[in-house]
Amino acid sequence: MEILIINGPNLGHLGVRQPEIYGVQGMDAVPALVAALLGPNAAAVRLAFFQSNSEGALIDRLEQAWKERVEGIVINPGAYTHTSLALADCLAWIGIPYVEVHLSNLAARPEPMRHTSLTAPRAIGTLAGFGVLGYALAVQALWQLQHAKV
Ligand code: DQA
Repeated sequence: MEILIINGPNLGHLGVRQPEIYGVQGMDAVPALVAALLGPNAAAVRLAFFQSNSEGALIDRLEQAWKERVEGIVINPGAYTHTSLALADCLAWIGIPYVEVHLSNLAARPEPMRHTSLTAPRAIGTLAGFGVLGYALAVQALWQLQHAKV
């Protein structure tokens, strides 16, 4: 199973950026977390990673995933979560099942803007507040939904 993990703006320096909010781990921790969660099934999952600070590059990468028939997407759109109709439109038309991930628990953040997501309504579901573990949990969810039909 081919899964694309895609991060939006300001998510290129995880572990360094405001660790009190976003945690101390970087994306390099994700493969080991996936391996721990999936056990022997991890070998059947191929992960691709992409990060960009620009909205257009994120959309271009999602369109490429559609062309490549990627089977699942894990996306943290960063601040574009709250602002980008363009990204939401792209996720809607490409039709690849996706899980939205946020490192922080958006419901607990003080800024009201962070409580709204334009991109979440079409997601299978959202994970927020688990740090980088959230990406691995999202991969596990995509795997289970496709293979174990839970
Ligand atoms: C974030 C939450 C967003 O509000 C913020 O703009 C980010 C990161 C998160 O992972 O908690 O850049 O998506």
